[in-house]
Amino acid sequence: MRPCFFIRWGKQMKDKIKNVNSLEDLQSLYTETFGKNGTMTQKLKNMANLSNEERAVVNTENTELRQLFKEKQAELELAVLNSKLATEYVDVTLDTEPKNRGTIHPVTQSFKEAIAIFESMGYTLMTGPEIEDDWHNFTALNTPEYHPARDMQDSFFLENGNVMRTQTSAIQIRAMEKLGAPIKIFALGNCYRKELDATHSAMFDQLEGLCIDTVEKNINLSDLLGTMRVFASKFFGKEVDLRIRPSYFPFTEPSIEIDMKWGDKWLELLCGGMVHPNVLRNCGIDPDKYQGFAFGFGWDRLVMLKYGLNDIRAFTDSDIRWLKNSGF
Ligand code: DAH
Repeated sequence: MRPCFFIRWGKQMKDKIKNVNSLEDLQSLYTETFGKNGTMTQKLKNMANLSNEERAVVNTENTELRQLFKEKQAELELAVLNSKLATEYVDVTLDTEPKNRGTIHPVTQSFKEAIAIFESMGYTLMTGPEIEDDWHNFTALNTPEYHPARDMQDSFFLENGNVMRTQTSAIQIRAMEKLGAPIKIFALGNCYRKELDATHSAMFDQLEGLCIDTVEKNINLSDLLGTMRVFASKFFGKEVDLRIRPSYFPFTEPSIEIDMKWGDKWLELLCGGMVHPNVLRNCGIDPDKYQGFAFGFGWDRLVMLKYGLNDIRAFTDSDIRWLKNSGF
């Protein structure tokens, strides 16, 4: 074997190694060269038959080819790693927030604010069932059967004689029955009446309050007005003008409605009055010893005012676009 042949073989091998582009191919080329029957292995075994000059060539080739294999292996491993990094990486800049994120419903949000305001004035939050019995929803509220005031509310009755709560005033009764007097509570929640248009929904929200103490404390309508002035200024974040109009409710005497100046209009804010002696009596409270006021808000209208909304039906449509775009 002439050294020039050696040199040609070595050059070919070097080119082959350079052109390999997978670790598998490199491995088989390595086996062909340095394996048990590999070309270089054979050459090394045959060293005894070679001239000094030829041995030197084989030795150099041996060293160089091993070095080249090593380098190529490192290069291919790096390429594999890089392609893994490119395809399997975790993009930590990805937005992890759910895409369809809504907001807290304006009614819920406003209730939270109202709860904070009334609690700051010493009122305790009470709850009651949405399916009410006739006693709590009507009779105890001085509205016995066949009383004409029952026509003020178009009610949903159940077959067993119960009624879908038409007013949170029912919770006043439950609270007085349970806690007696003196008492200072508020309540809020769904009510139901058979009505539906842009400003009335068959399911709507009310907020109710009740403040009773001994006659010596002389709680009266001006206390109610003062309480509402504090509430309205906190809730709407500005001083608001209020005015009183006479009204009628079977459970208050006298009964009033309180309006609020909104822009250049007067809008109804709430209803209320001095709790009727019959109502106190129905709850086991002596009206000669105790007196106080009650009030009730048609809550959704207030929420519509606060957030500039014009269709109450959107409140229960569950349309996330409405929740997102209304900027509550
Ligand atoms: N319950 C009445 C309604 O639904 C609102 C109301 C009026 C509540 C006067 C009261 C009140 O507590 O004193 O129309």
